Amino acid sequence: MSILIKNGRIITATDDYVADIFTEGETVRAIGKNLKLEAGRVIDAAGKLVFPGGIDPHVHLEMPFMGTYSSDSYETGTRAALFGGTTMVIDFILQKQGSPLRSALEEWKKRSNNNCVGDYSFHMAVTDFNDITKKEIRDLVENEGITSFKTFMAYKGALMIDDRQMIGLMEEVKKCGGLINVHATNGDMIDYLIAKHRGEGKLSPLYHYLSQPEITEAEASERFTDMTFYTGCPGYIVHLTCEGALNAVRNATRRNQKVFVETCIQYLILDASLYEKDFEGAKWVMSPPLREKKDQATLWAGINQGLVQVVATDHCPFKWEQKLLGKNDFAKIPNGHPAIENRMELLYSEGVSKGRITLNKYVEVACTNPAKIFGMFPRKGTIAVGSDADIVIFDPDEQHTLSAKTHHMNVDYSGYEGWEVTGKVKTVLLRGQVAIDDNKCLLKKGYGQFIKRNKVDNKI
Ligand code: URP
Ligand code: ZN
Ligand code: ZN
Repeated sequence: MSILIKNGRIITATDDYVADIFTEGETVRAIGKNLKLEAGRVIDAAGKLVFPGGIDPHVHLEMPFMGTYSSDSYETGTRAALFGGTTMVIDFILQKQGSPLRSALEEWKKRSNNNCVGDYSFHMAVTDFNDITKKEIRDLVENEGITSFKTFMAYKGALMIDDRQMIGLMEEVKKCGGLINVHATNGDMIDYLIAKHRGEGKLSPLYHYLSQPEITEAEASERFTDMTFYTGCPGYIVHLTCEGALNAVRNATRRNQKVFVETCIQYLILDASLYEKDFEGAKWVMSPPLREKKDQATLWAGINQGLVQVVATDHCPFKWEQKLLGKNDFAKIPNGHPAIENRMELLYSEGVSKGRITLNKYVEVACTNPAKIFGMFPRKGTIAVGSDADIVIFDPDEQHTLSAKTHHMNVDYSGYEGWEVTGKVKTVLLRGQVAIDDNKCLLKKGYGQFIKRNKVDNKI
C-alpha cells in the first residue's frame, strides 16, 4: 500500500511548508515538492493542514473505577480517538493493592489485545509499592516497553500511596530509566473535606468541587516537585489545572529543575460554574475538578511559556446511568468525562483559531511532546522520512457543532454539547493505512498495535 498526499501545508513542532508526502507500507518514505512517484492512492490536500497523528497520553478505557467500568472499550475508545485525529493513546493499568504489577498487566492485556483500532500503550499505576513491586519495575521497562509509572497522591483508601512509598518508587524508577507520573492533589485534605461536606448533608456535585480546592493541588504539586528534585527521578504531573500548582512548577525551574506538566483540554476551556447546574454538573465531575477563568488564563500562558508541555484529555467516560450512582451523594459519582474524540479539534478551535497558540505549538503539545516525553520519538509525533505514517489532514475552516448525536464515543451525552468548532479532521492515516475518510472508519479492531516505548530522556 502506498499513498501520495499532494500539496498539503505540513505542520510539525518546528516547520510549516507546502509539500507532498509519500508513504509506503507503514512508513513515510519521501517528502518534497512535486514528488513524481507512483502511488496506490493520491490524496489532494491543497488548502488543508497536515499534522502528525495526535497522541493522547492520558486515557482510561474499560477501566474498573468507583464500582463500575469506564464506558469506552478499547475498540470504541481508540476508534473515537481516530475520528478526532488521535492515532495513539496511552492508557492506565491499575495495580490492585496486595497484588503484583504483573497480574494487573495480564488483566489489562486480556481486555486490550486484538481489540484496539488505533495504536496504544500503557502507563503502570503503582498503588502499593513494596519489596515485591520494587523487583518488577525493571522487567516492565526492559521487557514490556512500559516506561512510565503513575502514582496517586489522592483517592485515599483506594489508589493513594504515601510519601515513603513515593520516594522508594522514585529511586527505583530512576535506576531503571523510567518516569513517574503523578495525580498531584493532597488526598488527606480532600478526604477530610469530603467527609465534612457529607456530614453537613451537602451532597450535590458542587461539593465535589468544593472538596478539592486549589490549595490541595498546589500543595501536592510542590511536594511532588520536591521529591523528584531530591531523588533526581524524572517527573510528570498529569492533569494540572490551576495557577497554584503551576506556580509550584515555576518555582522549581528557579533551581533549574525540569518537571513535565500535562493539562487537559477541559481545564483550558471549561470552568467551575458548570457545577452550579444541580445534578447535571455530574457530567463534569472529575478529579481535579474544573477551576476558574483565571486558571484557564494561567494554563494558556503556561503552554506558551513552555511550562506546560502536553495537552491530553484524561478521557474517562461514564454513561448517564453510571453518573446516577451518585444522585444522592457527590462522592459516589464516577469521576471522569469524555473527550478523546474532541481534543484535537477543540484545541485547534479554541487555541489556534482564536490566536492563543501557534500552529507549531499546537503540534508540539498535542503530538510531538507526548512522543518525546514517553519514549516514542521520532517514530511517532512528527512527520519525517522514516517515521510511522500517522498523518491527519485537517480543514482549518470547516465549522461544525459537537454533539452526542454525532460523536463516536460510547457515552450518551457530550461535555461539549452544542459547541461551535472551527476546523475539522478530514482524513487520518495510521501506519500507512487510511483510518478515517469521509467521516467513516475504515480500520477494524485488531489493527491498533501495542507500541513498546523506550527509556525516558528528561530533556525534550
Ligand atoms: O476524574 C478523573 N480524573 N478520573 C480518572 C482517574 C484520574 O484521576 O485520572
Ligand atoms: Zn487523576
Ligand atoms: Zn486520569
